[in-house]
This record gives sequence, structure tokens and C-alpha cells, in this order.
Amino acid sequence: MILVTGGAGFIGSNFVLDWFNTAANRTEPVLNLDALTYAGNRENLSGLDQQPLHHFIHGDINNQELIAQLLKQHQPRAIIHFAAESHVDRSIHGPGEFIRTNIQGTFNLLQCALDYWRGLPQPQASSFRFLHVSTDEVYGSLGPSDSAFTETTPYQPNSPYSASKAASDHLVRAWHHTYGLPVLTTNCSNNYGPFQFPEKLIPLVMTNALAGKALPIYGDGMNIRDWLYVTDHCSAIRTVLDKGQAGEVYNIGGWNEMPNIEIVKIICQLLDRKSPETAQRAGGTHEQLITYVKDRPGHDRRYAIDANKIARELGWKPAETFASGIEKTVDWYLTHREWVSHVQSGAYRQWIDQQYGSRMSGTRQQGTPQ
Ligand code: NAD
Ligand code: DAU
Repeated sequence: MILVTGGAGFIGSNFVLDWFNTAANRTEPVLNLDALTYAGNRENLSGLDQQPLHHFIHGDINNQELIAQLLKQHQPRAIIHFAAESHVDRSIHGPGEFIRTNIQGTFNLLQCALDYWRGLPQPQASSFRFLHVSTDEVYGSLGPSDSAFTETTPYQPNSPYSASKAASDHLVRAWHHTYGLPVLTTNCSNNYGPFQFPEKLIPLVMTNALAGKALPIYGDGMNIRDWLYVTDHCSAIRTVLDKGQAGEVYNIGGWNEMPNIEIVKIICQLLDRKSPETAQRAGGTHEQLITYVKDRPGHDRRYAIDANKIARELGWKPAETFASGIEKTVDWYLTHREWVSHVQSGAYRQWIDQQYGSRMSGTRQQGTPQ
């Protein structure tokens, strides 16, 4: 089996759902460890309620005893580490949690993985992998004519979030270099798709537009990101897990750079077509809701990923274009209004109690599989 951390969040839940949809993985169990912070949502995984190979554990990556016990008991062949605090704006307001989860939590996981790996017999020790899911933000900000980030671009993180992810990447690298732990690191660009918490640009714009609220654009709206549909990120991670070389870093991106304002206008145009009644209420078009607001402090201007290494060495490339991915995403948010309102109102916690309460209450302790 594999151990996934953060598998109730946006990318983690897509990864676990996709895992069981992919023929090659359908029979391999997943142990899914998540602390269910505001960003973690059991409802994302409701499609797996009848999947006996999916085991959810409510627990924290900082819990050394729990991680050690899970590794000993379940003997995973790999750890796929998604768990993190992931929102740049939150890191500006409260960096403490980012240090605790992204740095301290990764350190704890590495220590537990190292102890476990050292005790494995051959050939399991040679085939074990610790796959660390990281971000392109560790490389800093690009000027308009700079070349895209490669795996050798020097680290220049600018926000508390990217600094905490950079620190975790360095720890992962050091645990390989010093102790020989077989690690893989991926640095990916901006993801979008189903189950993304509506604090991030794309789902925020969609949910605000449908509610007739302002669409806040930071600064001049000309900051550039490189967008990748989430299931393409998931397929890249499976590819790196299967074929990547231990100790190596792989950049993952969609070859799809766009300024924020362009993204927002595309979403508005799709919504005008698919939801004419809310366009009408917005004054004829959702674009009328666009509102320029004060910039994010330290706002990185441009990210761009050079994804040639993973294409050349592992044969991965994205399946979706931005046009196909954003249309799927808009359709998903239009047909999952209940999910959005649960997440926004905090009612998803009630939903968890209602749906899983009887299985959790009384006997359940942190870290107990259900
Ligand atoms: P997310 O915020 O949606 O999900 C994070 C998950 O981690 C949540 O389910 C949360 O409950 C869980 N978690 C947080 N703290 C935890 C802890 N201490 N112990 C156990 N679980 C904990 O994040 P996401 O957007 O899905 O990102 C997942 C990973 O991918 C992160 O490491 C992030 O840095 C990386 N990444 C994200 C993007 C992106 O565009 N979203 C791009 C590149 C890389
Ligand atoms: O590049 C990968 C990173 O992408 C991941 O590591 C992070 O976890 C993920 O959150 C994302 O970071 P960004 O800061 O790029 O994403 P966000 O959706 O917050 O913002 C995208 C762009 O849109 C950015 O330039 C800021 C801008 N923005 C964002 C929000 C929330 C706005 O203009 N208005 C907004 O209200």
C-alpha cells in the first residue's frame, strides 16, 4: 500500500480518487492521513465510501507516535506527502502554522520514514520511496523575459508559504544526501480543478461571480501564473513514483502562462454562457463584478515552469489544455453548489458528523483507521 498525507485536501483528494480510477492502481490500498484542517474535507472523499481499499486516518503529520505506528503496522511501499498549509495570503497573516506543518511536520515525517526504511528488508528497502510534493514558488519571481524555472534554478522564496516549502525541500534533499533515504521531489505550478477551496483565485472568482459578489483582482491583474489541471498533476506524481530516480527533482507544469486578469475574464465568459441568469443579475455580464483591490504584500510577478525534464526522462506531459480544463472546472462548480456552500459555511463539519459520526464517535481516537 501507499501512505498519502493531506489526502482530504484539494490535490490530495484528487490524487486518491484518481488512484482508484487508474487501472494499474485499482487494487493497491491507500492509507490516507489528514488532520482535517479548514482545507481538509471528508466530503471530497465520499466517492470512496464503498471502496474497501481506502483507509482514512484522522491525524497530524507532527504526531511522531502515530506515524511510527502506522508505518510499522501497514508497511507502505511509498509515502506521498501532500499535507501542508497551502495558501499564500494566510501565510502572510499567520505564518506560525506554516512553520509547524510544512517544516516541522515534514521533518517529523522524514525522521519516521528514515527509521522505518532502515528496518526494511531487501528488496523492500530499495524500492521504498518518499515522494515530497512541492511548489514552483520556491524558485521566486521571474521577470517578463526570464527563462522558465528548471530543476537547477536557485531557490529564492519570497512569502512565508514559499519559504516554508523551500525549507521542507531542503530537509528532503538532506535526508537523501546524508542518510540515503530514497526521496523524490516534485515542484509544480498552479493547479485548478474540482474540490479546490474557494480561497484560491479560480474557485474564488467562480463562487463570487455566481453569488453576485465582487471579483477581487490584486494590483494590476498582470501577475502571471502557469496553470495545470489537477488530474494532470496527479498523473505526473504517479509517473514520478513509478519511474523517477531516487534523489531527483522533477518540475511539473502545464506550459500555460497567463495573467490573472485573463483567467478571470475567461471564467466570466464561460459563466455568462452557462449561467445567464447570474450574468443578468450582475448587469449583463459577470465581468462587471471585477474589482481591483490592494496588492498582496510581496506578490510574486511571474512563475513559469520548464517541464522538459519530466517529459524527456519519464515521458509525462499534460493531457488537458487550459480551455478543456477550465471548462470542466466551471462545470464542476456549477453542479456542486452544495459542496461550495458546505465548505463556505463550515457546514461541512456537520456533514462529516452526520455522515461519519456514528462510525467515529465513542470508539474513534485520533489515528484510528475507519
Ligand atoms: P490544501 O490546502 O487544499 O490541502 C492540504 C491538506 O493537508 C488538507 O487536507 C489539510 O487538512 C491537510 N493538512 C494540513 N496540515 C496537516 C497536518 N499537520 N497533518 C496532516 N494533514 C494536514 O492544499 P493543496 O492545494 O491540495 O496542496 C497540496 C500540496 O501540494 C501542498 O504541499 C502544496 O504545497 C502543494 N502544491 C499545491 C499547488 C496548488 O496549486 N494548490 C501547486 C503546487 C504544489
Ligand atoms: O504556484 C503554485 C502555488 O499556487 C501553490 O504552491 C500554492 O499552494 C497555491 O495556493 C498557488 O499560489 P498562488 O498564490 O499563485 O495562488 P492564488 O490562487 O492564491 O493566487 C493566484 C494569483 O491570483 C496570484 O497572482 C494572486 C492573485 N489573486 C489571488 C486571490 C486569492 C487575486 O488577484 N485575487 C485574489 O482574491
